[in-house]
Formats: sequence, C-alpha cells, structure tokens
Amino acid sequence: MANPTRRYRAALLTPTDAGELLFLPDAVLEVDPQGRIASISDYQREPHAHGLLQDLRGHLIVPGFVDTHLHVPQTRVIGSAAGPLLEWLDSTVFPEEARFADTDYAAQVAHQFLDCCGSVGTTTFMAFATSHPAATERTFEICVERGFRATLGLTLMDQNCPPALRLASDVALQSSRELAQRFHGAADGLIRFAVTPRFALSCSRPLLEGAAKLSEELQLPIQTHISENAREGVETLIEHPYAADYLGVYEAVGLLTSRTILAHAIHLTASEWERLAASGAAIAHCPDSNAFLGSGKFNLGKALAHGIRTGLGSDVAAGRSFDLRRASSHAFDTAREVGVDVSAAALFERATLEGARALGLADKVGSLEPGKDADFVVLSTKVPQLDQHVAVRLAGFGAELAPVARTYVRGRLVFDARSSF
Ligand code: GUN
Ligand code: ZN
Repeated sequence: MANPTRRYRAALLTPTDAGELLFLPDAVLEVDPQGRIASISDYQREPHAHGLLQDLRGHLIVPGFVDTHLHVPQTRVIGSAAGPLLEWLDSTVFPEEARFADTDYAAQVAHQFLDCCGSVGTTTFMAFATSHPAATERTFEICVERGFRATLGLTLMDQNCPPALRLASDVALQSSRELAQRFHGAADGLIRFAVTPRFALSCSRPLLEGAAKLSEELQLPIQTHISENAREGVETLIEHPYAADYLGVYEAVGLLTSRTILAHAIHLTASEWERLAASGAAIAHCPDSNAFLGSGKFNLGKALAHGIRTGLGSDVAAGRSFDLRRASSHAFDTAREVGVDVSAAALFERATLEGARALGLADKVGSLEPGKDADFVVLSTKVPQLDQHVAVRLAGFGAELAPVARTYVRGRLVFDARSSF
C-alpha cells in the first residue's frame, strides 16, 4: 500500500540545481506517496496550511550524502590500512575479500555495511563488491531489500591477485552481464549495476576491453581506480606497455567514458588532466584514504579548474570512516595543504549534489527540490539557535553536534537512531 503524503517540520539546508544554497530555519518538507518531494515551504509564511506534520523542530534536514567510492567487503577491515596500497591489498584486503566465497558471510557483511551507511546519512553509494558472483548477487538482493540507492559491481580481477579471487575473463564478463540484466534498474531504478575493473594492474587487456564493450552495450556506469600510488603507476605501465600513461590504459581499451568514475586520481600528468576532462569522466576524491595509505594529496583545484565532476568517497576500508562529513573535513585539510581554498558549503555540496552529478543521478537526488526523490537525512542539532552559518558547518563537517537521527531513501526510513541499539 502506498504511503500517505508526509510532512516534516524542521530546519532545512540544501544546495540547489541553480547553484544556490537554500536555508530555511523553519521549513516543511512534503513527501508524496511515491517518495518524491512534493514541496518545500517556509512554515512561518503559512503556519496553518500544512495539514498533519511530524514535528522535528531541533533537527536539520539535509540531502542524503552520496558516497562515490567505497568497498562493501572491506567493512570489517576498516582502519586496518597500514602502509602503501599494494602491500595493504596483499596483507589485508585480499584475505578478507577471499572470505566472500562464503555467501552467508557476504550477507552478514552487506547488512553491516548498510547499517554503517544509514548511520552516517549515506543514502546513495557507488561501491565495489568482491569477485564472487554469488556473494555479489546476495549483496544486490540485500540492497534491494533494505531500500538503499546503490550502484554496485562485481570486481573484475584476472591477474596479479590470489587464486581465490581470480575470475577468468569470460566468466567475469558473463557473470557481470547476468547481474546487470537482473539488477540494473531494479527497485524502480534505485539499484544500478556498474562495470567494475578493480584497477588496470589486476586486469588483462582482454578483460578491460570486454568490460568496456559490456558497459557500452548496456550503457552501464563504470568504476575503477586510477593513479593512487606511485608504485602502482609504475607497475601498471609495465603490465600495460601499450599505454604512455595510466589514463592511456583506460583510454586504449574504451573504459574512459562519461559514465566512468575514477577513484583517487592523485598523480596525474598535465596531459592526463586534459584528457580526463575532455572525456567527461568523473573523479571520486577519497581524502581520508589518501592520507591513511600515504598515497599522496589530490589536487581539488586542478579538478575544478578543468571542470571535472568530482564527488567525495569514503573509500572504506582505506578510509577510516563511512562518514562523508569526515571525508569533507579531510578534503578541506588536503585542499589547504595543496594551496586550494575551499569552503564548508562547497564541500557540503560536493558530498551531496556534486556526488550525485558525478554518478549521473542529479536528476533524482543530491538536493532537496520538488520533483526529486525524497532522499534525506535528519540531523539532531544540539545548537539552540541555528542560523545558516552554523547549519553549513554542521552539515559540512560537524558530526558530534549534529548526529544522524534518521535516514530516508525515496521517502522510506532506512535508518533510525532510536532503534539502532
Ligand atoms: N586499488 C585497487 N584496489 C583497491 C582497494 O581495494 N582500495 C584502494 N584504496 N585502492 C585500490
Ligand atoms: Zn577503492
């Protein structure tokens, strides 16, 4: 049975498609029976015109956070990153991901992963599963069941990885096709399948080419990593000698498209910045992960100067938190370290609307505007007189003073702090 129209009274802060920031200290958010935003109004202007209201005064409603890059199977090894990328993959990530041969284990972790997403207000994410088709299928099913807006993919690896994770190119591509046919567009479009080559190092050229063809044929999004770590960059060019630089691998095989999201992008040459911008691909900026693995400092200024869509990624588990407000704080620090000025408001937009743009979902989510889906977070604000400046800082950075009370996707409650213990 469809839900009735619901109305929530609280303060509200959102970026808008028009490029403005909207703050209403006493707003009414109206959600229609399909889970779309019917209207946003100022309670004070028409105090009696709203019908039955849920009174959430003392709270701040913001758009759901959009995490453009993380790994479901790394949920339980969060905070384990110690040292450079390739060593960490071998010592910690690959053994943990190998456990996903057990589909029940995968299901447990998928639930924990979604608990974590909901608890920090992440409503939309783009994530890697493992290279196990059955575990990936289970993870999709759980995302459907739990109601999150998930873009997810079977991780493609046919070389430079332990035998337990290696999936032959033909099997990997056929499994991707079957998963895409079943899940891309599922749950009325909440779920999407992403073609997911782990990174160039772990994929043969035929696998990368097959992945590109599949994405083109079914118009699927693509997610992968690029230029995260210096040694990774050197080894990639040894493995793929036909390319002049890292981006050149993805270009040569057809993976560099406007549907592509590239995580990290730290060590790019001037030519790579230009070509990446021309391709229309987006970047997932993962500042906490970059610091924790000692990978380097992403230059947000260059991404902006080139007009590249750039969202934020927690990159769990190299990132130590699912909380995109923590990622925003780290993004602020990194920007400062590379001499780039960025505000809390700009980072809040990056964690919401710009992330949605990066994922190609901004027509549906990323901001609270009539006609978009009602993906929103209710923050419990412990600040007596909330003004726009404070609201921006709480939404942009400050978790303790504004913990997540509830998280909604398309009008459906997917996390409630009152029932999470
Ligand atoms: N590059 C290839 N795989 C991974 C991964 O799992 N995490 C990170 N941070 N980088 C990667
Ligand atoms: Zn990653």
